[in-house]
Amino acid sequence: MRCARCAATERSEANLHYHGLVASRATEVFLQSLKRCLANPGFLDDFYVRFIGSSEEVAEKFRGVDMKHQARMLEDSLYVVAVAVQGGEGSPARDALPRLAELHSRRGLDIRPELYDLWIGCLVETARAHDPEFSPEAESAWRETLAVGADYMRQRY
Ligand code: HEM
Repeated sequence: MRCARCAATERSEANLHYHGLVASRATEVFLQSLKRCLANPGFLDDFYVRFIGSSEEVAEKFRGVDMKHQARMLEDSLYVVAVAVQGGEGSPARDALPRLAELHSRRGLDIRPELYDLWIGCLVETARAHDPEFSPEAESAWRETLAVGADYMRQRY
């Protein structure tokens, strides 16, 4: 598969494709915004209220799940995605993604690829509400960083 943004044509199974300094800048902006969001109590709970309210299918997936545990997992997973986008091969964060992709695939939780756009949209709206310095640049950084993680998961559905 050819990447739309550069000349790369290959993606090896366990590796993310990323864009060096371009991704790093966006990831840095994303991480700073995420830090401001997490400093603001209620960010993670607010995300789940939005996400679960966004679709009956999402609500169904989370029925019976302990939300406190899930909120902690979300926080970890946002760092996993950010560090995996930036991190080199063999970094622990990058190594976590194949397991997560398998868990979310049709062989596990069966999260349909379409639901990742809802996931990104709800995270961006929650960040807009909680980051006092949210900006168009921050929004692009969130979208760009999360899209890499979401694409990774979708390709392994
Ligand atoms: C790139 C995007 C995503 C990442 C990085 C991510 C990450 C995670 C992580 C770290 C866990 C906990 C795994 C564990 O307990 O070991 C989890 C669980 C889960 N995720 Fe995701 N997730 C993503 C997208 C989604 C989407 C779009 C849905 C849609 C409904 C979803 C639904 C779930 C559910 C239902 C669980 C299991 C909850 C439980 O039974 O404890 N995830 N996810």
